[in-house]
Formats: sequence, structure tokens, C-alpha cells
Amino acid sequence: MVRGWDVMKNKTKKERAHRLFQDNMKLFRCPFCSHPFIRSRHFGLRCSQGHNFDLARNGYCNFLASAPKNDYQRDLFLARRRVFQAGLYQPLIVEISKLILDQGWKSVVILDAGCGEGSLLSQLYLLLAPGLTCSFLGMDINKEGIRLAGALGEPIIWGVADLAQLPLAANSVDAVLNILAPANYGEFKRVLKPGGMVIKVLPGPGYLREIRNQLEIDVPYSNEEVLNHLGKQLKIQVQKRIYYQSRPGKALWPHLLKMTPLTRYRERVIKPVPFLTIELELLKGVYPQQSFQKLRKEI
Ligand SMILES: C[S@@+](CC[C@H](N)C(=O)[O-])C[C@H]1O[C@@H](n2cnc3c(N)ncnc32)[C@H](O)[C@@H]1O
Ligand SMILES: [Zn+2]
Repeated sequence: MVRGWDVMKNKTKKERAHRLFQDNMKLFRCPFCSHPFIRSRHFGLRCSQGHNFDLARNGYCNFLASAPKNDYQRDLFLARRRVFQAGLYQPLIVEISKLILDQGWKSVVILDAGCGEGSLLSQLYLLLAPGLTCSFLGMDINKEGIRLAGALGEPIIWGVADLAQLPLAANSVDAVLNILAPANYGEFKRVLKPGGMVIKVLPGPGYLREIRNQLEIDVPYSNEEVLNHLGKQLKIQVQKRIYYQSRPGKALWPHLLKMTPLTRYRERVIKPVPFLTIELELLKGVYPQQSFQKLRKEI
């Protein structure tokens, strides 16, 4: 729940985003000079050194100086949105919500780092918000993704940002979500509060098996390298396999094929199947406390 949000229902997306940014100003810092942002009436953020970040009409803020090239285009994000909104990843969101509720927090700041078009964070908000005071932040380097996220209705702060240089203050976040996206553990550690956690989701060996088989990709997904790297940075407290057969239905099939760069230009060779395997690996990791103390000395 976001306090006092009811009165914002009839406002424009930009006005709503402005209110969210103003209310959560202390969570942010300028990605260019690391100074804090100051209160201002203009629709956007202004740091104490004069760097300005305007709010877009769709209610998001762009924190990047230039737009990097990226594999993901609008049609891919739209396809992901159709698939997520059909509920195919709801079991994953339920598991993530349990990890957060288990903490017993009364209020929580959650960052989705590499949130894409935002549906998964939005679904998590709908599950958690009724019982929690919360600030939800979704950030992605891809403007097309964030532009689509801004069109969603939930009170979530959306930003175009590089997860290697997040526009967030140190010790500002309780949980970093990192779902099927690259990670930057140094930056996650900086923005997390002591005792905060990283929730990482990786594709399991059987993920989208029926599509991969038809593309004759024989090598199963392997997370060995990612897990080795992650294990060096974080103490892994939970590692859980999520496995189910979804029934996508014919109407969803074209969107399933468009939601991953895997199938690009090869969509026609793939025939619909009645069941599609979703296998994911869900991890919860925390930074050992002494590494926070070391980091504080370095700041
Ligand atoms: C497979 S998509 C997953 C998106 C979303 N989590 C989902 O499951 O739909 C990977 C995402 O990571 C984002 N990404 C890649 N590099 C990034 C970076 N350096 N900073 C922020 N986002 C990044 C991409 O733009 C893309 O949206
Ligand atoms: Zn600045």
C-alpha cells in the first residue's frame, strides 16, 4: 500500500509519478555526481549540483545520458506482457512474495533491477501491497520496456537506468529482484540496507523445453557459471526449483514465441504444443555483515 494514494487516482501519469518521486526522494541519488536530489516543483528530479532528469508523459524518469543498444525491442516486451498477464509466471511471483513476507517487514523498499516491461513487479505489488507499506522501484536500461511499464496502473516508480550505476542512495533498498536479467553484485550491495536480500531468478535446465527442442537446441540451460559467481558474492539462504507445465492455449502461442530473442526469425518452424515447461531456479542471497562494514569504510 502506498499511503494517501487514493487521492491520486484522477491525476495524470506524470503527476502521479512526480508525487511518487517526491515522496521517495531520499532513496535516490544523482547517477552522474552521486549527490542527493532536492525538492522541486518541476516534473522531474534535480540534484544539488544542477543535473536535471525530466519525467516523461508516461510517468517514468530517464537517468541515462545516452541510449545504449539492446537486444530487446518493443514487440518482445509486448509479447512478454501478454504472457505474464495470462498468468503463466504467477507461481513464480507467489514464491517471491513468500520470501518477502517471511521477513516480517512492516514496510519495504523493493527494486526490480532489469524489470523489462514491468508486469512481474506489478503482479508482485498486487500480492504484497494490501498488507505492507511499500515503495516499489522498477529499473531497466531499455527505454521501450520502461515506457510500457509506465502505462501500468500500480503506484510503482519506473526509471530507465543502468544497473551498473543505479540512481539510488547507499543502504536504501530491502530487496533487489533480478529476474532473468544480468546482475551487478557490487551495485546491489551498495544500494541494499544491511540485512537486505537479493532475489535472483534463473532459467532451469528444462525452461521452455518444448520450444528449445523444436529449435534443435540440445544443450540444456546451465547455471553453473552464474551460480559460482553468485556464491562468491552472496551467502545463499534459499535455492528452490520451480517446475510446472503451463497450458498456454493457441491464442497465446505467437506471443510465447516472440517473448524471447531465442526464436527470432525462426518463429515459423515452431508448432504449438498443449503444455509448455516452465522451470526456474529461485535464489535468495544475503551479503555477509562484515562485507557491509568494509563497504562503509570504502564510501
Ligand atoms: C530477459 S529480459 C527480463 C526482463 C524482466 N525481468 C522479465 O522477466 O520480463 C532482461 C532485461 O535485462 C535488461 N538489462 C540488460 N542489461 C541491463 C543493464 N545493464 N541495466 C539494466 N537493465 C539491463 C534488458 O533491457 C531486459 O529488459
Ligand atoms: Zn548530479
